[in-house]
Amino acid sequence: MTEAALSVEHAAQVRDRFATPCYVYVRGALEAAARRALAFPAPFGLTVRYAMKANPSRGVLELFRGLGLHIDASSDHEVERALRAGFPAGSIQLTSQMPSRRLAEHLARGVLFNACSLHQLEAFGLAAHGQSVSVRMNPGLGSGSTNRTNTGGPASSFGIWHEHLGEVKAIAERFDIKITRLHSHIGSGTDPEVYKRVTRMTLDLASKLPDVGVVNLGGGFKVGRMPGEPSADLADVGAHVAQELTAFRDRDGRSLRLEIEPGTYLVANAGLVVATCVDVVDTGHDGYVFAKLDTGMPEVTRPSLYGAQHPIHVLAQGREEADVIFVGPCCESGDILTPAPGDPEALAPRRVPRPQIGDLVIVGGAGAYCAAMSTINYNSYPQAPEVMLEPDGALRLLRRRQDLDQVWGNEV
Ligand SMILES: Cc1ncc(COP(=O)(O)O)c(C=O)c1O
Repeated sequence: MTEAALSVEHAAQVRDRFATPCYVYVRGALEAAARRALAFPAPFGLTVRYAMKANPSRGVLELFRGLGLHIDASSDHEVERALRAGFPAGSIQLTSQMPSRRLAEHLARGVLFNACSLHQLEAFGLAAHGQSVSVRMNPGLGSGSTNRTNTGGPASSFGIWHEHLGEVKAIAERFDIKITRLHSHIGSGTDPEVYKRVTRMTLDLASKLPDVGVVNLGGGFKVGRMPGEPSADLADVGAHVAQELTAFRDRDGRSLRLEIEPGTYLVANAGLVVATCVDVVDTGHDGYVFAKLDTGMPEVTRPSLYGAQHPIHVLAQGREEADVIFVGPCCESGDILTPAPGDPEALAPRRVPRPQIGDLVIVGGAGAYCAAMSTINYNSYPQAPEVMLEPDGALRLLRRRQDLDQVWGNEV
């Protein structure tokens, strides 16, 4: 699964029309990823929920709605955003760390609810006596590309700890609610082998919840952004999951419908940021060459947060190469685009055509958790625009650059 490419001509057009930094999403790449997810093997039916937290841009949501994807919303606000993008209420499920402040309203509209703690399950019982619900369980094991993206096991606050299943059942009985759906999501960038093990652990929990007819195994499918970095093979993971579901049917009698809810997998490599090199400095013979870009932690926060790796292309073919540290525009020594893998505090130079002021530079793998998770307005930089590259080569504006007035507009 490789990153979507942008020609030099298109990058120049982006800069001329929208200025830099600017996010670009490639429709063809988004569609291809969605089609691969929809082909996930599932012997008793499949729903693919897009984890919209990865990229909630309306243009992206509408594209996925058109392809038949459903929604995993992570807050009351995301529920609202999905409804405004035209998703029917019944295709949206709320899975939130934060207890919903609008639960009764969501339920009246038909939005689905996934209780992520015993407290949330009780709140559902009070609001929806006699109805059916999903529960998110922490099956006891997790895996993420970093500890910060691991959402399973004893060090994670996500979901209901598996040993509390008795309390789940007691609450269900007390409020006469039915647990018809079971959910686990154990991290982002999950090791496929751990995903397979957790499938079995989740099905073992399902065997103790006799009303469950749908099992949601979450997202987390790893995407390689850097050259040579592996991506999860959905066909391989899916074949294993299908086998487990069939074996479950054979021993338990229930044919469980499968749900998966990828975020990263659907959007990560379909997005990029077009930027400009605005300065080049160095720290002497034994130091470093630093290329300063007009993009950094405000648009692509993941490197400074996790030591995440994004490909960086200097559009200057044929130029002599150099080892370069790329930094962003903020007065913050942590605003680095090339930290060491998994270590945001260490520098890892990249071998690239030696950048010059004015060069166009592309930061790849920027479709997931970039526009969605930015340190917006730090140093008062306005939020960058988002553009869709259509199959006919047209660049369609999805979101304008913020005006400065919007940066301070709520001050009173
Ligand atoms: C409940 C839930 N489902 C799905 C996802 C999507 O994960 P990913 O983007 O790694 O596929 C997340 C991400 O945090 C999540 O919390």
